Amino acid sequence: MHQDPVTAVVVGGGHRSQIYAEYALLRPQELRIVAVAEPEPERRRWFAERFGIAAERCYESAEELAAAGRLADAAINGTMDQLHVPTSLPLLELGYGLLLEKPFALNEVELSQLTEVAGRRDSRVMICHVLRYAPFYRAIYEQIAAGAIGDIVCITMEERIGYGPAAVSYVRGKWADRHICGAPMLLAKACHDLDLLTWFNRARPERLVSLGAERLFHPSMRPAGATGRCFDPCPHIDSCPWSAKTDYLEHTERYEGYLWTEIPDLAALTETQKRRYLHEETDWDRCVWVCNRDNVDWQSLIVRFADRSAGVFTMSSGAAKPERTISIVGSHGQIEGDYLSECFTLRRSRPQEASGWTEVEIDTRGRETNGFTGRHGGANMRMMQDFVRMMRGEELSFSATTLDDSITGHLVAMKAVEAMDEGTVVDMDGALRAFGC
Ligand SMILES: NC(=O)c1ccc[n+]([C@@H]2O[C@H](COP(=O)([O-])OP(=O)(O)OC[C@H]3O[C@@H](n4cnc5c(N)ncnc54)[C@H](O)[C@@H]3O)[C@@H](O)[C@H]2O)c1
Repeated sequence: MHQDPVTAVVVGGGHRSQIYAEYALLRPQELRIVAVAEPEPERRRWFAERFGIAAERCYESAEELAAAGRLADAAINGTMDQLHVPTSLPLLELGYGLLLEKPFALNEVELSQLTEVAGRRDSRVMICHVLRYAPFYRAIYEQIAAGAIGDIVCITMEERIGYGPAAVSYVRGKWADRHICGAPMLLAKACHDLDLLTWFNRARPERLVSLGAERLFHPSMRPAGATGRCFDPCPHIDSCPWSAKTDYLEHTERYEGYLWTEIPDLAALTETQKRRYLHEETDWDRCVWVCNRDNVDWQSLIVRFADRSAGVFTMSSGAAKPERTISIVGSHGQIEGDYLSECFTLRRSRPQEASGWTEVEIDTRGRETNGFTGRHGGANMRMMQDFVRMMRGEELSFSATTLDDSITGHLVAMKAVEAMDEGTVVDMDGALRAFGC
């Protein structure tokens, strides 16, 4: 049966929205981008040209877009964390369906605002938990669901953030101070992991404890003689792992989308111009120990679930090689793997074997691409496929995360920050009940 494409407006034409909107070019029969709201003229122009958006449908802000009334079936909201809820509420009130970036709310007040409006308007809302679409995590989910390791006893997950990305985002960058960006690091960085944790373990989170601290980037770690800026110059400029000279100037490609966003043609810049940009026009060469950030470098949490199983998660900054690992102990087996390799080991308890177990390696590389290319089996595009299906009222894949599906993982992150800050044991059962879960 022929169906018209789902129409969508883009709110915040940054990196993430640009990725998601590509679906309209891959599958024009399914999705059409009809308007964009973006304050930066260059990005607005990019959208207008790439998706053939009429000039009168290019808006300078989400607020201006909302004032125009409802223009499409859905909105793709890829604004920054602190704008997610304020920009989404008017669109939901207008009747738009919504694809919303994580974290979909910064705190419980925003969470209740969003769920109240979405519930009252009976809105279709999907959250961008793209990791649920990665073949690696999908295959683990399938093994658990098929009973391959029996009942879950304990899931242990780690996210080790690389030393360079940690500095770019959580020390010098836009998530450095949780009171400015609005999202504590655990929520900003690890809400994906906590979503996975509470997806794999379907039992109800009951109690939660958490500790965390600033360690790596604490001022006490600052080497003697370090200056305030790398290009002051600092005597450690050639040896410091966070030297703007080595990490940014000599490897401009490394964090292009973070550092050099205001430079239209980076390749045309001379080394002197790049150095001036880092040192004089911006403050990207600030010493990592004088950034006055308000953040942690590690945080751990333990969730006890209602069936007496456990979920343990640690996020840490400073890894030489960034990585996500997972280990699941079940009543009859075990799963162990790391996301980067996209492979995991499935072991089954077998007392009749000399070793006491059997094991198989499961390689998920290249699986389930459904014709989509890109990292991790085209996870972004497969999420977009579900988004279109949601808007059409069709059946969704088991990876789909509607707003309701996403509440538990986000609430675990929010409550873990509260537990860390206040040194309390959180009643997760009560917290979930407050949101009707
Ligand atoms: N799902 C994932 O895997 C994943 C990965 C990275 C980032 N993210 C999340 O995606 C979101 C966007 O990240 P990004 O890197 O694309 O950011 P970005 O800064 O590139 O994009 C945000 C855009 O919003 C625009 N904007 C600002 N105010 C606006 C307004 N009032 N109305 C409309 N637009 C406005 C900005 O000009 C910018 O272009 C963040 O919340 C981030 O946490 C998700």
